[in-house]
Amino acid sequence: MKEKLELILKNASDDIKNAKSVLELDEIRLKYLSRKGELNSIKKNLKDLTDEEKRTVGAFANNVSNQLELLLSEKSEELYKIELNKKLEEERIDITLPSDFRPQGKIHPLTQTVNEIVEIFQGMGFSVVKPENSPEVETEYYNFDMLNFPKEHPAKDMQDTFYTKTAPNVILRSHTSCSQIRQMLTQNPPVRVISPGRVYRCESVSARKNNLFHQIEGLLVDKDITFADLKGVLNEFIRIYFGSARPTRFRASYFPFTEPSAEVDVQCIICGGKGCRTCSGTGWLEILGSGMVHVNVLKNVGIDPEIYTGFAFGMGVERLTMLKYAINDIRLFFNNDIRFLRQF
Ligand code: PHE
Repeated sequence: MKEKLELILKNASDDIKNAKSVLELDEIRLKYLSRKGELNSIKKNLKDLTDEEKRTVGAFANNVSNQLELLLSEKSEELYKIELNKKLEEERIDITLPSDFRPQGKIHPLTQTVNEIVEIFQGMGFSVVKPENSPEVETEYYNFDMLNFPKEHPAKDMQDTFYTKTAPNVILRSHTSCSQIRQMLTQNPPVRVISPGRVYRCESVSARKNNLFHQIEGLLVDKDITFADLKGVLNEFIRIYFGSARPTRFRASYFPFTEPSAEVDVQCIICGGKGCRTCSGTGWLEILGSGMVHVNVLKNVGIDPEIYTGFAFGMGVERLTMLKYAINDIRLFFNNDIRFLRQF
């Protein structure tokens, strides 16, 4: 019996040594060590032996079983490592390969300009008006009447303003200046706001004009506000937006809701003032309208013009973007051609 056990030990040890996989080891364990395995079938015969033999052979059988368990676990660890390494090698990922191209969305150039300008004015203490003070569907009352437009002003003409069929006085606002009125009706001075938004004009579309465009309105009302404050704020804005201290020019102009009024020109950023196509040979680019809030407007909203004065300005977002990036057609902003938009 002892010889049989020794044979089992030898065969099993050889089998274990030669095993090529963890799976094979499982089979070997089954063959020798399971309940129906070779070792057990010998142990079953122990009962035919003398007590003395039982003790020695039994102990030896246990010894064989322990040895085989040890060999199996060692070999299984070894094979497991080999198999793992093989798997890692086979499934190796080349992390230097370029990854899938995932197109990433971008912020529209007009929105970028609005954000940039809003940030500049926030830096000077302005805040953005609440959306409810800046609706796009307006009434003639806020768009014109409260802003001191005379009853028969040509801007009210059907050719300039989009009227609706909803009600005779409901229009698409032709400028953001309506938000000046709404703001002053809801806030007592000091008022220091900007109001970006869409405006609409019934014009034929060209490289320079679109039916829909964007403006940013500014309004500051407080005690002792003078034209010098207007100049200071706008010059500072231009310096930051165009990146350096460019010469500016305040040209007398007319708006019904400001007095005095001024259009502001900046030295042409394309030719540096020499004269080119962009500035029509003048060396100057007109970038915004502005002025001191008209006494009638202050009265309309119930602000005492003897105590308070203020200034307002309005600028075109498309125009400012076109000047900064030398874009020659306003329609590019609205066609959404990805090749154009990708450049910003
Ligand atoms: N609302 C004017 C326009 O659309 C611009 C402007 C705003 C002028 C505020 C003066 C003050 O042309």
